[in-house]
Formats: sequence, structure tokens, C-alpha cells
Amino acid sequence: MKTTIYVMSATGNSLYAAQKLAQSLGESEIVLLPSDKPVILTERVGIIGPVYDGFPSPPVVNFLRGPFRQADKSQVKYLFCLHTCGKSPTFAPHIIEKLVTEAGCAPSYQNSVRMIDTHVGMVPIRAKLDWKPILDKADGKLARIATEIGEGALRIPSRRPLAGFALRFLMPKAHQTQGKTGKYLSASDVCISCGACAQICPTCAITMEKKKPRFGAGCIGCFACLLVCPKQALLYQMRNWQASYINPRSHIETYRSTLWKANSTK
Ligand SMILES: Cc1cc2nc3c(=O)[nH]c(=O)nc-3n(C[C@H](O)[C@H](O)[C@H](O)COP(=O)(O)O)c2cc1C
Ligand code: SF4
Ligand code: SF4
Repeated sequence: MKTTIYVMSATGNSLYAAQKLAQSLGESEIVLLPSDKPVILTERVGIIGPVYDGFPSPPVVNFLRGPFRQADKSQVKYLFCLHTCGKSPTFAPHIIEKLVTEAGCAPSYQNSVRMIDTHVGMVPIRAKLDWKPILDKADGKLARIATEIGEGALRIPSRRPLAGFALRFLMPKAHQTQGKTGKYLSASDVCISCGACAQICPTCAITMEKKKPRFGAGCIGCFACLLVCPKQALLYQMRNWQASYINPRSHIETYRSTLWKANSTK
């Protein structure tokens, strides 16, 4: 069965999960969100992304409300959704359930996997973070999830009161707050103008001006820019969080910089 996996990933955890599942499921294509590629849905479709403040991230929500909704779903026999998180997926499975249903489909399977928590300001993410035990544990869970998906298991989240309210009122507020992150980001004097922050930004919200990053519209508050900086030069709320983490097994930097280069030569 051919699988297409749509994945939003800022710091590489969700991309890594997609890569692991693709490896186990066989013939699979991974598409990084946001994407301007035409959406062609295969027999098995996966949607993978991080949990932000208890909700799916804006690129996943926009994908489900836009291109996915409009796409021909007649081929789709099995749809799975996976949430990567630091602690708990909270409302994300229930919101995804509603969005996929509104788009005229139904998820057959949902699950979540705990990875490194990238929420700068809420959790300490140090350069010397021992990510190995956490990612090794995630590997075990991803292997079980791949087996269940391969067997066509059904796993649907139980009903959650207030999910409709959360979708209509709480999620837009959370996304609005995340969208203001760029206003509070700035580069300190130790910036070496390498451009890594601009290249990893999933929404291309950073431009290099006078050899320094400038944060424009479209920020989703993912912190990938701050977490990738080799000099830890990015300040958030004027403070240096000394934070550093990009999933070392996913190579998200290479994926994003290739897309960034392709976009900047258009
Ligand atoms: C702005 C922001 C909010 C987050 N909120 C949550 C949350 O509510 N619950 C949780 O368990 N993890 C939360 N996280 C952690 C991410 O969901 C987790 O690190 C995820 O695996 C990152 O995926 P990625 O590397 O594919 O971007 C948050 C991370 C960020 C940047
Ligand atoms: S990644 Fe860091 S050092 Fe490189 S341009 Fe951005 S802020 Fe400057
Ligand atoms: S500017 Fe930084 S925090 Fe905002 S979307 Fe881009 S990488 Fe994420």
C-alpha cells in the first residue's frame, strides 16, 4: 500500500517520526509542510506534527482546512495522525479528529510520542542535553505504532468535552500568541551572520538584512531559529536562554535549507 506522509516539523522530531514510520511501512513519500506541491492522496495517508500549547501547529491546521480539504480523497483507505510532544498531546487528537472530519474524511488511527520538549522559556533545553534516552524510548514507541499502522489498526481518541470550544476559541488565541514570538526575538552581537536561523524557519519568516536576521510576518513561534543557532546568539524577550536542540537523527536543517535555497532562486 502506497503511503504519503504530510509532516510539519520545526526542530526535526516530527520529521524523525515520519522517517521511522516510512522506513517500516515501505513505499512512502514524505512531504514537509507548509508545501506548495499539489496534494495527491494515496491509499494510506499520514499527518504528523508537533503539539503547540496543547493544539496542532498552524501549518497542519492550514493544510487540513485548505489543500487537504480540496484534494480528491477517493483513494484514501487509511488515514493516521501522529502528534509529537514534550509531555502530552492534550487537545491535539480531538482537534485533528474534527478538522479531518470537516474536510470530508475520518482518521482511522491517532497516537502520540514523547520527544524532546522544545518550548523555549517553559522548559530548559541545554546544549548538553542528554537526548539519547528520550529518543531511544521514542524509537520503541514508534516501532509499535508502525506495526499497528501496518496492520491497519483502528485507534480513535475518546470523546473530549469542550473540544469544539477549544477548536473555535482557544486554538485561535494560542496561535495568535505564538504568532507574536518573532516580535520578541533578536540577534545579539555574537551573531556570525551564518543564516542558519533563516534557512530552518518553516514559514520563511526570517530575512537576512545587513547581515543580521530580521523577523517578519508569518512566525509561528516554533523556536527552531533560536534552537539551531550555532552561537546561541538569538535572544527571546531580550534574554539568552542558552538553549540548543535540533533532533540529531532527522537532518531537518538539510531538508529546510534545500527548500530555502530552491525558494530563494525562484
Ligand atoms: C511553542 C511550543 C509549544 C509547545 N507546547 C507543547 C505542549 O502544549 N505540550 C507538549 O507536550 N509539548 C509542547 N511543545 C513541545 C513540542 O510539541 C515537541 O517538542 C515537538 O516534538 C516538536 O516537534 P518538531 O521537532 O517536529 O518541531 C511545544 C513546543 C513549542 C515550540
Ligand atoms: S543562526 Fe545565529 S549566528 Fe547564524 S545568522 Fe542566525 S542568529 Fe546569527
Ligand atoms: S521566526 Fe523563528 S520562531 Fe518564528 S517561525 Fe521562524 S523559526 Fe519559528
